Amino acid sequence: MRLVLSLFPGIGLLDKAFEQAGFCVVRGPDLLWGGDVRSFDPPRGIFDGIIGGPPCQKFSTAGAILGSERDDLIPEFVRVVEAVQPRWLVMENVPQALGHPAIPRDWFSFRLRDWDCGGHTARVRAFWTWPFMALVSPRASGQPSQSVMASTFKRGGGQYATDKHFLPGNLPIAEYARLQGVPEIGERLVEHKAGRAFAVHVLGNGVPLAMGRAVAEAVNRALQEEAA
Ligand SMILES: C[S@@+](CC[C@H](N)C(=O)[O-])C[C@H]1O[C@@H](n2cnc3c(N)ncnc32)[C@H](O)[C@@H]1O
Repeated sequence: MRLVLSLFPGIGLLDKAFEQAGFCVVRGPDLLWGGDVRSFDPPRGIFDGIIGGPPCQKFSTAGAILGSERDDLIPEFVRVVEAVQPRWLVMENVPQALGHPAIPRDWFSFRLRDWDCGGHTARVRAFWTWPFMALVSPRASGQPSQSVMASTFKRGGGQYATDKHFLPGNLPIAEYARLQGVPEIGERLVEHKAGRAFAVHVLGNGVPLAMGRAVAEAVNRALQEEAA
């Protein structure tokens, strides 16, 4: 029940959330590290779960960023699920991807806001789970700050960002990492002198840690109920 294949892992924010919830996560290919899901052919019957967030720029209002990230790779997520035949799955994307025709109709879908999961930001994401619905109770009060997005670094810090209620693009990398719930990843990026565009892009692409934790813990509860 605990061995999980992560598709489109990026720098692993969603993976970290599942690891903290007690799962053993194996990272699949990512273009960042030279792998391509389109030539990935994992074996059937090894993994209990599959998690992952296919690139969302094709659907996102933030627009396209990089080359093949413009491709719609949700069908690749579905292809790998069919090949691996896991016992459960979690897919994450922007809410604009809800209703995507390639997503099987028996996958449950729902929206979550980072703040409602105990995080810092206003980020909203769609999740799909199968064969159970992962139930998360929203936090009742308070106000989130703005969201870190992959395109944040392009926005500068001027009046435009203020007027549009965007998080400015000129904050320290540590601040974006803090908002995403992963200050230690921010420290590593700074320590290794990661370029600013890269650091903010990969942090902004990630699932905020509190949101990932809420989903991972909901999966834990669903698996425990299934086993009872
Ligand atoms: C939304 S991000 C995933 C973020 C991750 N879930 C996290 O929480 O940190 C999508 C990832 O898909 C990767 N990607 C894009 N095209 C790909 C491809 N053809 N094969 C594998 N990975 C790809 C991108 O490099 C990016 O890291």
